Amino acid sequence: MEIFLDSSDINEIKLLNKANLVDGITTNPSLLSKSGNDFKNVLKDICKEVSGPVSAEVTATDLPGMLKEAEILKKIAKNIIIKVPLTWNGLQACEILSKKKTKVNVTLCFSPTQALLAAKAGASYISPFIGRLDDIGENGVELIQEIKSIYKNYKNINTKILAASIRSVEHVIKVAKIGADVATIPTKIFKELYKHSLTDKGLESFLSDWKKSGMQI
Ligand code: G3P
Repeated sequence: MEIFLDSSDINEIKLLNKANLVDGITTNPSLLSKSGNDFKNVLKDICKEVSGPVSAEVTATDLPGMLKEAEILKKIAKNIIIKVPLTWNGLQACEILSKKKTKVNVTLCFSPTQALLAAKAGASYISPFIGRLDDIGENGVELIQEIKSIYKNYKNINTKILAASIRSVEHVIKVAKIGADVATIPTKIFKELYKHSLTDKGLESFLSDWKKSGMQI
């Protein structure tokens, strides 16, 4: 499974990219507005740091507006992926852009039929929001399973399932078990992925035994 960071915080991205385990980045208007800096510069910096796909979302809701913004966003860097919302206009924009070989991430997906239509519109990525479904008492992980089952029936579907709105390590484990292509993870959860109290405890006792022995490597 590819791991993307769901962040527009360049300092956090730089820090977590040090081990080269970050395959891409997703941003959204809420995340970019939090950065407080010019969004184009933020995206430029992110694209310089991470060579994989970086999703940048249109904010227009009409079709001509979406297409116009897509052109502007595409010029920021070669690895920009255009993110459009799963609306009627978003699907049309996805179809037009995909035909022109522009990669599109269709976001705000909450149902299997939405995912099916995005795939038919040529989306490179579909972003089901699992945490937000959990928030309303539904099962977000189940949606990933449903989309996976549908997509695997059709050889001509090349849309990657990008599990978004991840809220816990448990979410990451569950979507990996299902076989999501990508999980986009907030930096806070990413840091929890490599931590275990027994690792820390084990290392502490190894090092204390080593120190007592007086040996050196
Ligand atoms: O980037 C889209 C998505 O991951 C947002 O997550 O936590 O705001 O529901 P969240």
